[in-house]
Amino acid sequence: QKDERENLFALNEYARAYFGETLFETEEGRDIGLAYFRERGFRDETIKKFQLGYSPDEWEPLTRKALAEGFREEYLIGTGLSVKNAEKGSLYDRFRGRVLFPIHNLTGRVIGFGGRVLRTGAKTAKYVNSPESLIYHKSDTLYGIFYGRNKIREEDSCLLVEGYTDVISLHQSGIENVVASSGTSLTAGQIRLISRYTKNITILYDGDPAGIKASLRGIDMILEEGMNVKVVLFPEGHDPDSFVRKSGGAACREYIKANQKDFILFKADLLLAETANDPIKRATAISEIVESISKIPDSIKASVFVAEASRILQIDERALLTELNKLRMKQL
Ligand code: CTP
Ligand code: MN
Ligand code: MN
Ligand code: MN
Ligand code: MN
Repeated sequence: QKDERENLFALNEYARAYFGETLFETEEGRDIGLAYFRERGFRDETIKKFQLGYSPDEWEPLTRKALAEGFREEYLIGTGLSVKNAEKGSLYDRFRGRVLFPIHNLTGRVIGFGGRVLRTGAKTAKYVNSPESLIYHKSDTLYGIFYGRNKIREEDSCLLVEGYTDVISLHQSGIENVVASSGTSLTAGQIRLISRYTKNITILYDGDPAGIKASLRGIDMILEEGMNVKVVLFPEGHDPDSFVRKSGGAACREYIKANQKDFILFKADLLLAETANDPIKRATAISEIVESISKIPDSIKASVFVAEASRILQIDERALLTELNKLRMKQL
């Protein structure tokens, strides 16, 4: 099994080099892929650092080359770089006509790829990603962890974003303590991976309904792991990539500092915003905040947050404690 894994790593490395060469050294790669990245504001040094690439818009160039190079069919399937045509039994490339983001493990080896179409439309998914494999487990992987781990430890804080491009743009702007959950479905495995470097996570998800919903879910999951969580809400329609590109690194840092809220304040502002004086909605908001507090394993820490919630919500602390104890009983 160890050999098998090594073979998959070797093929991924071969593919990474191929996609990188295609990006910089072929006409199609330069005109389409490199032009796309530059248009997005990625500098060449950034493109090289993150080992970005391009896959030609053809059926099987990588499959053909890799087979000729001696890589076995089972590895092409095993890494997910090739897909088997059910009828003909032949292989074709998974990534075609896409810009590519290699996904690295903690030691910088390539375990998979994310491929983005150049123009989004109804026809194809915006991103195609490597499937689960012997070396790639999506739920235990954070995009950017290899590039960010030292800074995360140094700053004792981790920024958690949604996407590949958020990680890359923030790095390029000098904000390097960042990883992506690659979408909005954060897992316990990903949170535990961060906990090796810091106990402090700031969620920087997209400023859209999906991002807000995922932030709320992320809060509870992070609290359950005994870690500290803050949230930054970006202006409607922005994600960290678009924001930092528009405002620059310094302003983005300022924005994060000025707008990061601990989970109680974040939930209170969000849930109480539309309630005005509707007592039922207000009660729901209050119990949702207590619900989050009930996820905190350390009871002393939980009581500190009860005090804060009492102050922010202007609710008697004892009432909140009663509610908290009820929830705790249910969770036993
Ligand atoms: N994602 C995915 N498959 C999709 C959509 C999204 O795997 N069909 C993952 C990708 O890792 C993506 C992240 O979820 O980076 C966030 O999605 P989204 O916000 O839609 O994309 P962005 O990262 O903002 O990409 P872009 O700026 O290129 O649109
Ligand atoms: Mn797994
Ligand atoms: Mn999004
Ligand atoms: Mn984006
Ligand atoms: Mn986004």
